[in-house]
Amino acid sequence: MSIHIEAEKQDIADKILLPGDPLRAKFIAEHFLEDAVLFNKVRNMFGYTGIYKGERVSVMGTGMGMPSISIYARELIVDYGVKKLIRVGTAGSLAPDVHVRDLVLAQAAATTSNIIKNDWPEYDFPQIADFDLLDKAYHIAKDMGVITHVGSVLSADLFYSDLFDKNVKLGTMGVKAVEMEAAALYYLAAKHGVQALGIMTISDSLVADEDTTSEEREKTFTDMMAVGLETLIA
Ligand code: HPA
Repeated sequence: MSIHIEAEKQDIADKILLPGDPLRAKFIAEHFLEDAVLFNKVRNMFGYTGIYKGERVSVMGTGMGMPSISIYARELIVDYGVKKLIRVGTAGSLAPDVHVRDLVLAQAAATTSNIIKNDWPEYDFPQIADFDLLDKAYHIAKDMGVITHVGSVLSADLFYSDLFDKNVKLGTMGVKAVEMEAAALYYLAAKHGVQALGIMTISDSLVADEDTTSEEREKTFTDMMAVGLETLIA
């Protein structure tokens, strides 16, 4: 048991998919895993372990934002020995060529947050994805025919931000999308010597007037989950 997860150590696999929304963790367990067993319901942050194509994998919600994902990622890594963590979430496009329903693989994450500096004040530590996971996810997504962009993202502390114009400017500097978790996940993975990757589907755009139907969103979320699971076991 850890402070926020009630599982026994052996209840959680060493590879985990991390959606922000705990109900998406339930959806993934129900639609993709065989023999899925619920290992956590503390704060309704559901976590499941099951079998995907013969391999034991886990899936758990992280909540929204860097403080929340930092708590769960640290406990999963330090207390449960998780070695591969893939965030599957949504992001807002910052670039005109990145459209709703596209996938973004977060090669690196800039951040507006002080959360990393508070822990490691001396340097602007670069928050980067694990290259092996990134490389695998890219080829898996391409082979599935999913439109996929690789580049940096902005991990912001605020969803409703007065920095809107500055965030949009980042789009002209190679930052593909804004989300709220990747930088902290990458930092913790580096700090503890494990592998992490963020895969995002674009749910909205800050630079174009684009919409999706809920059916289309469901399909792209499902593609992202498949890319994440295939990458975990590749
Ligand atoms: N901003 C921050 N996080 C997000 C967004 C956004 O526009 N869309 C999805 N996650």
